[in-house]
Amino acid sequence: MSGNEGKANIGIVGLAVMGSNLARNLASREGNTVAIFNRSYEKTEALVAEHPEAGFLPAKTYEEFAASLARPRTAIIMVQAGRPTDAVIDELVKVFEPGDIIIDGGNALFTDTIRREKAVRETGINFVGAGISGGEEGALNGPSIMPGGSAEAWETMGPILKSIAAVADGEPCVTHVGTDGAGHFVKMIHNGIEYADMQLIAEAYDLLRRVGGFTPAEIADIFAEWNTGELESYLIEITAEVLRQVDASTGKPLVDVILDQAGAKGTGAWTVQSALDLGVPVSGIAEAVFARSLSSAPAQRSAAQSLPASTETWSVDDRDAFVEDVRRALYASKIIAYSQGFDAIVAGAAEYNWDIKKGEIAKIWRAGCIIRAQFLNRITEAYADDPELVALVTAPYFADAVGSALPSWRRIVAGAALAGIPTPAFASSLSYYDGLR
Ligand code: 6PG
Repeated sequence: MSGNEGKANIGIVGLAVMGSNLARNLASREGNTVAIFNRSYEKTEALVAEHPEAGFLPAKTYEEFAASLARPRTAIIMVQAGRPTDAVIDELVKVFEPGDIIIDGGNALFTDTIRREKAVRETGINFVGAGISGGEEGALNGPSIMPGGSAEAWETMGPILKSIAAVADGEPCVTHVGTDGAGHFVKMIHNGIEYADMQLIAEAYDLLRRVGGFTPAEIADIFAEWNTGELESYLIEITAEVLRQVDASTGKPLVDVILDQAGAKGTGAWTVQSALDLGVPVSGIAEAVFARSLSSAPAQRSAAQSLPASTETWSVDDRDAFVEDVRRALYASKIIAYSQGFDAIVAGAAEYNWDIKKGEIAKIWRAGCIIRAQFLNRITEAYADDPELVALVTAPYFADAVGSALPSWRRIVAGAALAGIPTPAFASSLSYYDGLR
């Protein structure tokens, strides 16, 4: 008798929406039994009552939680990053034993993960920082998972994480990224790229609206069309959906009634701060972070309304050609954002001694996560063809893509500058490209 009969092979601490969805996802997969714990027991009871099919093992105390888990105990913490995470780790360390595994599935700062891993390791318990991407829906149906931590921990948790991850071309979107903070580092870069992707989409939208003169509904059709080609991605797909929405109370396009201020939870800023420390230019990501800051300074923007604009107007004769120029500028800038993001991964791996397989990272981003996109296959191929590739943008496929987009990209950035339309990410990516050459 192993003493593990009737026990759970995995536990979740923290039952807010991400935690409860992850618990439900785990419970729905063959072979998993899920123990659950939340600071307030009402939430635990409610989840058990709402989902009897999940067969959860609810625990009222950390002791009960530990007792309900099979050895080696494996638990995923899904609470707020920062102090709440430290508080839960302290409690788990008291009731877990050497060989057990504590996984932090939140958006922790990777240096916190390095610190925590070191401290927890002294007790003989494994600590793993795992980036989990895909929001609420991904947590429930299949996220992309980026775990760090020890090889020993990966042996036990690998099959469990594979059972719940998104699947791309038959492969689960999870891989052992590297030791200690490697997983959270890569998740941070994922988010930085996500910021750049979103900013580039916003710039393309603004150009189509204000220069091209298209309505939001027409721009939705343009994005839907783009989503059938090399730009195919989740963010392009949902942009089309968002732009199609009409506000029921005013009858206006929804995009026009949403406050034009974008906040941020911090992972984009962390990416830029880390890149500054590593000496890696992530200019597209930085412009994306700064554009959000600018949007969130309404007093400054309002005071600046009276400043002179441009004496030039940009009149577009061939609207189809203009749309194609914007598409190509977007694609080229996106390639730069990914190239810069992978540069940061390479530099981080060298600095912190992580053996990160770049092609594997692109693979696990193909499904489940927010930046999932067709073109990630091309990144995997580029690193498979040349594992020592010094810059993604110089790989033949990407060099060709950027080369053929170049005249369009220059026309858009130059035209926008003359007409007084801000394109910080398009423009800085082009400048970076020219600087690099
Ligand atoms: C994900 C997302 C998710 C969230 C980020 C960014 O991968 O599922 O990245 O983690 O979108 O926290 O949030 P902000 O854009 O609000 O900073």
